[in-house]
Amino acid sequence: VFSSLFIDTPPTDPYPLYEVLRGAGEPVLVADRMWAVTGYESCEHVLTDNRFVNDMEAVGLHKGGPQWREHSALRMLGAMMLMANPPRHGVLRRSLQRRFTPLRTAAETGMVTAVARDLAADLAERGDADFITYFADLLPTEVISRFIGIPESDRLEFRRQIVAFNAVFERGVTTEQLRAADGAADDLSAYIAELIAESGTGRKETLLAHIANAAADETLPAHEAVPLVFQIYNASYQTVSSLLGNGLAALLDHPLQLQALRERRTSLASAVTEMLRHDPPVQSTGRHAGTKLVLGGTAIEQGDMVVAMVAAANRDPAYFPRADEFLTHRTVRPLLSFGQGIHYCLGAPLATAQAEAAFAALLQFRSIELSGESHRRPSANMRGYASLPITVVR
Ligand code: HEM
Repeated sequence: VFSSLFIDTPPTDPYPLYEVLRGAGEPVLVADRMWAVTGYESCEHVLTDNRFVNDMEAVGLHKGGPQWREHSALRMLGAMMLMANPPRHGVLRRSLQRRFTPLRTAAETGMVTAVARDLAADLAERGDADFITYFADLLPTEVISRFIGIPESDRLEFRRQIVAFNAVFERGVTTEQLRAADGAADDLSAYIAELIAESGTGRKETLLAHIANAAADETLPAHEAVPLVFQIYNASYQTVSSLLGNGLAALLDHPLQLQALRERRTSLASAVTEMLRHDPPVQSTGRHAGTKLVLGGTAIEQGDMVVAMVAAANRDPAYFPRADEFLTHRTVRPLLSFGQGIHYCLGAPLATAQAEAAFAALLQFRSIELSGESHRRPSANMRGYASLPITVVR
């Protein structure tokens, strides 16, 4: 079941397979020294118990073999905050905290709303358009580019590379995908290094200036600057695009829910939370046991991997009644879609702000309908749409 979820061609609808896995109990052994947990409590446990750590040596070996350091994509993955353990993780996270406070995000919301409105106006002009190409891909690209300080002429340039790099987050990355990810890592890091060098320090609001200042006052070691910007840039495009695509597809598939939202019987905030629960852009994340331990009554050896299947946890019937249904008025418990614990997604407020602004703009249309066949991206762990053709009437 695990292989058909992640290793072979991914299924269009993985959720019945998660239920098969849940039925096998947890933790369930899914490969040599690799376990999976599917319940809400166990996933939360794996993400918050500090005996579970990130082990890049093991991840590198698993994805790239003994010579994994020859792959620049895996070297970059290892340099990212996402893979860092304390105390280094704390140094990196603190260096960014001031740039990601709720106050700052609130200030950014005005910019996000303006970009969403412009893109919606363009959709209305077109009438028929692919929602992913003309909206879902453009909103996060524009927002994160302004946030980082990427010049306008370069903003659309690196989307293909980000998707190529993200293959490193798949559980069954192929040699060919890894080669493409290496090229993408090289291109992106060279570009980011150039941007940082050109940015200079000062009182500018961009993330680049913030990082350059942090490096100048030595709160951030200089060699951490490129991977840190890389992490933010990379984390923010495909994920948000997938939230918008998965969310719109769910709404179009549930006309009564769309109607409730139009009539303001449900709030945009709860609808976006339900989109994140029902079909999360990141389906699972892994940790390694830093020591020998017992999980759910099963002995886990030091170095074993445990995959927290957050998409399955989001449908844990013990936590979410009628878990398979898409109910925009649901009062949702804290979700695992942005992770949990020390690596909890730094960009969660920026991501939800974009989704709320996007759906607020789209709900202004008199009608919005699917106009053709949609297609999923070929990736399994990063779950989203490659195309979602729609017709809108203003
Ligand atoms: C819907 C959109 C998004 C989803 C579903 C998402 C999901 C996640 C998840 C699941 C994690 C934790 C992974 C783990 O623990 O292994 C994470 C971490 C992270 N995310 Fe997001 N993310 C989204 C958008 C963003 C945005 C917009 C940004 C930046 C502006 C961002 C920046 C980060 C960073 C920096 C981390 C690492 C935090 C750390 O290691 O301390 N994410 N994200």
